[in-house]
Amino acid sequence: MDFSTKACDWNKAADSALLNAKSDCIVVGVFDAQTLSGAAQKLDAATKGLVSRLVKSGDLGGKAGSTLMLREVAGIGASRVLLVGLGKQDALGSKTFTDAARAAWRAVLATRAANVTWALAQVAVNDRDASWSARMSALTLRELTYQYTQTKSKPAADAANGGAVKKVIVVVDPAHEKAVRVALKEGVAIANGMDLTRELGNLPGNICTPTYLAGVAKQLAKDWKLKVEVLGQKRIEALKMGSFLSVAKGSAQPPQFIVLQYQGAGAKQAPVVLVGKGITFDSGGISIKPGEGMDEMKYDMCGAGSVLGTFRAIAEMGLKLNVVGLIPTCENMPSGNANKPGDIVTSLSGQTIEILNTDAEGRLVLCDALTYAERFKPAAVIDIATLTGACVIALGHHNSGLFSKDDALADALLAAGRHASDPAWRLPLDDEYQEQLKSNFADMANIGGRPAGSVTAACFLARFAQAYPWAHLDIAGTAWKSGSAKGATGRPVPLLTQFLIDRAK
Ligand code: BES
Ligand code: MN
Ligand code: ZN
Repeated sequence: MDFSTKACDWNKAADSALLNAKSDCIVVGVFDAQTLSGAAQKLDAATKGLVSRLVKSGDLGGKAGSTLMLREVAGIGASRVLLVGLGKQDALGSKTFTDAARAAWRAVLATRAANVTWALAQVAVNDRDASWSARMSALTLRELTYQYTQTKSKPAADAANGGAVKKVIVVVDPAHEKAVRVALKEGVAIANGMDLTRELGNLPGNICTPTYLAGVAKQLAKDWKLKVEVLGQKRIEALKMGSFLSVAKGSAQPPQFIVLQYQGAGAKQAPVVLVGKGITFDSGGISIKPGEGMDEMKYDMCGAGSVLGTFRAIAEMGLKLNVVGLIPTCENMPSGNANKPGDIVTSLSGQTIEILNTDAEGRLVLCDALTYAERFKPAAVIDIATLTGACVIALGHHNSGLFSKDDALADALLAAGRHASDPAWRLPLDDEYQEQLKSNFADMANIGGRPAGSVTAACFLARFAQAYPWAHLDIAGTAWKSGSAKGATGRPVPLLTQFLIDRAK
């Protein structure tokens, strides 16, 4: 799928970019109260008022997200015109625009159109610029055309819709063309990263093992000239990552510690370190989970997946900054060798941990990675983890949970999430909550009881992240969808990538 731009001077009466375009479908917006967008007005003039007659007739109410496909329209080059309702003109917000774009792409995909002229991104969206609208347009199309096929013997019936669109020409104001071209490149890179993250999340635990993830990291490094190092069981033991190793003990799959390095700036620049939780299956271990829905714990490596996806995106964009990715990855399984409640382990930091619940394993693998991060003298460290069910209860599926003591870092991540429509919500990290982690037998317990479960999980991690500015993203509610649309979302690749784009400026 290829995205390019075409400038259209909206002030000129007739514009060839729009009217002579030999595309299979041209997509334009219509507001309610029968107001046509600039592009729709041009089509209206060229078609002797057809568009306004149709809108007046009520065939397209202009309600946000409604669509009307017209065929064989006389007077223009395109073989189809898709009218898309955008609701009230002065209240066109980012959500309405995104929903309308999604509806529009659905209608386009149903026609099997290959060449699309997209004039929808021309409308003004509250608090957003033309670059945002163009990037979001590309991302919504890619979101809809992603298909999981790897473990199906034949493609799903609706897979036929996925591949039809080959070329998209985004029609823009000449003043915005340069910026929009950059935005489309970003959009494609982010979509490629999200596709990788989604695919890894969707793969089952018997295929996407720690060793498999390490293989993906090595391939990524090869394709994009990154530095990669994978530490196996022996080297993890030699390092004394006792906490991480205790989680891996119950599994027949060996743990892996993946170190990825992207160097887009001078060697002296302190890197941003991304740490991703890579539990390729979380059975809960001896504190085993109930059977219902346990299959979804294959997604417990989505933090790791989002780190790999973000590396894919920033490498394609060639961002000018240094980024390190750390992925502690293993399975959490019950067995005669597994860790068990009451066990005390010594982390890489030297701090001891009483494991009161083997299902609170994410923090046990992350804490050693956070200590390992110190050696990179990082400018900032962000860990990304499907860490707590409590975060799903607190925030549902729209916002990721954000925890940080560093206001500037937190604000930058929140702003990036907002801009990328991949939002996070900040939750507290006050020291008062640390008391819940008290242990009679070790420096700390690995659980803090039911109250504020996401906060105490973050507080646990905070004890290992004292040496640098640090933030924690709990993506338990945002990394995948349950129910009939079950599948990985690719979040928070947009947030992380935007954060890095902003930092590279
Ligand atoms: N991977 C889970 C968190 C999770 C649960 C993510 C449900 C998405 C949906 C994590 O390892 C876990 O099991 N956490 C426990 C912690 C508890 C034992 C303190 C939880 O949330 O129940
Ligand atoms: Mn668990
Ligand atoms: Zn887990």
